[in-house]
Amino acid sequence: MNSHQFEVIVVGAGGAGLMAGLYASKTAKTAVISKLYPTRSHTGAAQGGISAAFGNSEEDRAEWHTYDTVKGSDYLGDQDAIEFMCNEAPQAVLELEHYGLPFDRTPEGRISQRPFGGHTNNVTGKPVRRACHAADRTGHMILQTLYQQCLKNNVNFYDEFQIIDLLMDGERAVGVIAIELATGELHTFHAKSVIIATGGHGRVWEITSNAYAYSGDGAAVVYRRGIPLEDMEFFQFHPTGIYKLGILITEAVRGEGGILLNGKGERFMTKYAPNVKDLASRDVVSRAIYLEIRDGNGVNGSNYVYLDVRPETVNKYAVIDGRTNPDGSPVNVTGEQILKKLPDIIDFNRVYLGVDPITQPMPIQPTAHYTMGGIPTNKFGEVLNENGTPYAGLYAAGEAACVSVHGANRLGTNSLLDLVVFGKYAGLRAAEYANQVDYAPLPADPTEYTRQQFNALRNGDGKENLTDISNAMKKMMFEDVGVFRTEEGMQRALDTLAELRERYKHVRVQDTGKVFNTDLLNAWELGNLLELAEVVTLSALNRKESRGGHAREDFPKRDDQNWLKHTLAWKRGEKIEIGYKPVVITKYQPKERVY
Ligand code: FUM
Repeated sequence: MNSHQFEVIVVGAGGAGLMAGLYASKTAKTAVISKLYPTRSHTGAAQGGISAAFGNSEEDRAEWHTYDTVKGSDYLGDQDAIEFMCNEAPQAVLELEHYGLPFDRTPEGRISQRPFGGHTNNVTGKPVRRACHAADRTGHMILQTLYQQCLKNNVNFYDEFQIIDLLMDGERAVGVIAIELATGELHTFHAKSVIIATGGHGRVWEITSNAYAYSGDGAAVVYRRGIPLEDMEFFQFHPTGIYKLGILITEAVRGEGGILLNGKGERFMTKYAPNVKDLASRDVVSRAIYLEIRDGNGVNGSNYVYLDVRPETVNKYAVIDGRTNPDGSPVNVTGEQILKKLPDIIDFNRVYLGVDPITQPMPIQPTAHYTMGGIPTNKFGEVLNENGTPYAGLYAAGEAACVSVHGANRLGTNSLLDLVVFGKYAGLRAAEYANQVDYAPLPADPTEYTRQQFNALRNGDGKENLTDISNAMKKMMFEDVGVFRTEEGMQRALDTLAELRERYKHVRVQDTGKVFNTDLLNAWELGNLLELAEVVTLSALNRKESRGGHAREDFPKRDDQNWLKHTLAWKRGEKIEIGYKPVVITKYQPKERVY
């Protein structure tokens, strides 16, 4: 009764999962399973925009988008995949528009675009308007739009079903096991193709912009089945999270002219990125904020700085920077206009902090934001082994995947582009494969490994407490495997993680019921986070250089001679094996990044 058969199973109903489901369903019997109701997926938290070089307000080109992304990645991104994504971008955004996504408009009726970090005119080096946006709710709008399209296309949805295991027949994916949250029943989904689109694992860190659901489920499940994870040391800290809470304050605030100020009221980004200043790439800005705080320049000597988007500040710095409106007229914004462009940000600050950004600066600090590594794929979403050979019937897309288009540091708005473009190709390729093959047999006892995992959590001796372990992991990862890293800190983190994993064996879930047993699921998710935290930390400890989001104080320089390569990590029993593979370089030879 709990057995289902679909040609294509998509796991995850964020932007990547919905796009994959939509495209697969055009030619194959497709189901999307998700532990959340689809429109609650974390894509909805993406605020500022989706990039495409339309040049709606000023000159822009796909080649500039490509180069900016390669440079932003600190040359670790695979250039063939980056070029493919940037060339696909305008078509992908137009497709969303045709599906009904309510983008903001220019006075002429074109899709409105705003500047974002690292998006530049490659001739002048100045910021360029490339981020297409729907106020500061772009991800939310994408999610709603794609969900409607999926319903229209009769995609089958299994909402509130959480993946626990991937079923393999040798090197071929044959299905997944999921638990139905409402009943606690296990379900077997037999498939010809499986697409993993479960997002990232930002809940490893204490201060994060990530939803509670972001526990790396897909990556952990795949990893336990012997499939490698790529570039896990690269995790992005977004420069502007609400102080202490981590909730995202979109980079679009700076795109709309907001300025970062230290406790002395100084605009410190002029020191760190003299050309583009507050619109440097995220790794550069996050480090700058930390350095200011370390130098005692936090606000009131504390560990935060200000992001200021008050109209008088925006107008003042527009004059200083020589920035004008697209039609060349002077910038003279009002509070009302800012409210219209950034309604959610204004609201979050009012509700969570009692701060009104129209009249007060916002207290911010870097927040753990985006998983740049993940399940290795090519640009068609096919999951690859270390030789670059696809596993039959296995695909990944979105933040769970590493294509790799973000390399060591992702540019803002490329995440939404990534999930739309590669979600589509994963769906197409998965359906194409499913149309060529028969179902492969399921294992004799498909739920065996799932039951083992749950039994361990139900039958532990209960000496340890889940929340204590989780809090210890998050705090330690934020301090020792955060924006800045050292050998000593990461070794300490690895030792602590080994202890925490040992303690985790003694956890016992308190809820013995079946209906919405979130206690059991939280415990299982913590297992994923601990496992992935260890992969992140060991991959980071081994990489003896600084590149993009991986900033080592003991190896402060990028070292292309030895480290221009992707990391791969495999689970080998209780140990992690590390290997490497080359970066694809086509047109752009690595050079020093200057912003
Ligand atoms: O700043 C932001 O709006 C976030 C966008 C992104 O992560 O791409």
